[in-house]
Amino acid sequence: MKNINPTKTKYWNKLKKHFIQIKDIHIKDFFKKDLDRFKNFSLNFKNLILLDYSKNRINKKTISYLINLAKECHLKSSIQSMFNGENINVTENQPVLHTLLRNFYKKNFFINGENITLKIRSVLNKIKSISNKIINKKWKGYTGKYIKDIVNIGIGGSDLGPLMVTESLKPYKNHLNIHFISNIDGTQVSEILKKINLESTIFLVASKTFTTQETITNAKTVRDYFFKNKKFLKSDISKHFIALSTNEIEVKKFGIPKKNFLPLWNWVGGRYSLWSAIGLSISLSIGYKNFLLLLKGARAMDKHFINSPLKKNIPVILSLLSIWYSNFFNSETETILVYDQYMHKFSDYLQQLNMESNGKQIDRNKNFVTYQTGPIIWGEIGTNSQHSFYQLMHQGTKLIPSDFIIPIKTHNNINNHHIKLMSHFFAQTQALAFGKSLKDLKIDNLKKINQKIENKINDNLIYKVCLGNQPTNSILINKITPYTLGSLIALYEHKIFTQGIILNIFSFDQWGVELGKNVAKNILSIIKKNNKCTIYDSSTNGLINFYKKNK
Ligand code: F6P
Repeated sequence: MKNINPTKTKYWNKLKKHFIQIKDIHIKDFFKKDLDRFKNFSLNFKNLILLDYSKNRINKKTISYLINLAKECHLKSSIQSMFNGENINVTENQPVLHTLLRNFYKKNFFINGENITLKIRSVLNKIKSISNKIINKKWKGYTGKYIKDIVNIGIGGSDLGPLMVTESLKPYKNHLNIHFISNIDGTQVSEILKKINLESTIFLVASKTFTTQETITNAKTVRDYFFKNKKFLKSDISKHFIALSTNEIEVKKFGIPKKNFLPLWNWVGGRYSLWSAIGLSISLSIGYKNFLLLLKGARAMDKHFINSPLKKNIPVILSLLSIWYSNFFNSETETILVYDQYMHKFSDYLQQLNMESNGKQIDRNKNFVTYQTGPIIWGEIGTNSQHSFYQLMHQGTKLIPSDFIIPIKTHNNINNHHIKLMSHFFAQTQALAFGKSLKDLKIDNLKKINQKIENKINDNLIYKVCLGNQPTNSILINKITPYTLGSLIALYEHKIFTQGIILNIFSFDQWGVELGKNVAKNILSIIKKNNKCTIYDSSTNGLINFYKKNK
């Protein structure tokens, strides 16, 4: 991996000049100039995923310059470095190999002299046998009842990935009820405990480190609940707890036996871990066969990422567009707008994946960056958000690049719902790009007067003007299946990787998160004591003391 300051490259500087030339060109004028724009700016992945990026503020030159920027930053060799298992997570001195988890046909892959593919396959076998046993009602709880509920206890990457996938793939779900506890706020665990019967529930303690305060606190609370029943013996823990972690020692201390321990490895980043043992809740929810299809779909996208030329490479194109907007147009955010109810957690998931990966300010040469790194990611499902924040996108003052995502085929083909949903999807990207001018509004107004629909010239038409020119990517997915979802997730993983490489930052650590954790630890020891807190700034002291007085 080469550590190149992107702003010092030839093509960054070319892009700067190019930006001045095209920044005021309206998307509609790009379309007028290039009648084949859709063909020229769209990419097709196996007829399963179509990316149309023609409604962006770009022309062919923009893309060519951005591709050259990627080349100057040695993107291709960095991709190789990741897949080859080089220590590209430099600050944690380890490789980044979540992609290996979905390449399980690979015969050998050695890390520190150890053939890791054997270990990966052995965990997959364990996922398979546990899933089959529980789904087929062969796993019994401590009172002999078969399992009906699964609760995943985890946070961050040990929560959001499995949560998003199990929600997105609900049509493939079996009889098991899947729940998630992440928050340390006792409300979440209390509410879940009200819904389930402990005797027929398995808790998956999902924590890469097995030291995360939120997860271990929640897991201990649940364990205490079991022990409130005199009939529950220590040995019964194995009937109700499974650990998904790297930390065998802590798992053992918790009381979970080895047979219920599914390992993952340090080279799997937390937010990239749904493909690992952390994905057990997915396999339980949709069955092992479907879990494998999810992995296979991701593998297919990995191959596309490795083998496609940069200009035909979907993750690369999305990443370059993101850099174009945040660094040249100074946009601050990106929205993810999914037109599929099942995928209601997708933008939350991408928020962590992107912001925890690329929310960095020190470059790979240990300097503060002088340019923008990761964007703010946010979003919601369509069409609900059309009746909420789209107003600002249509008429506000902010530039908001968006990814619009929709399946062509729905799992719930009832009446004419889906065709209407599709029409909203197409309409929004059209309206955001092309807007509505005062001239067109006046023509419409006159037409309506002629047709006697309206009776006078509307002198408030200015308020209806939508300038358009909001950039969007449209992503059409054949159908949300385990396979296509796997591909879509991997697509975004690689988009984020590409951004990190070009922006010269380390995408696979998260030191900022650690600061908050440490401060919270210190504050916890202070608020347990009765004396007045004086060691922090006046605001923090004041808040802590107010809490102590009023608790
Ligand atoms: O939020 C920071 C983080 O380290 C995430 O990267 C990770 O997914 C999460 O905490 C949970 O960590 P663990 O799986 O070790 O409990």
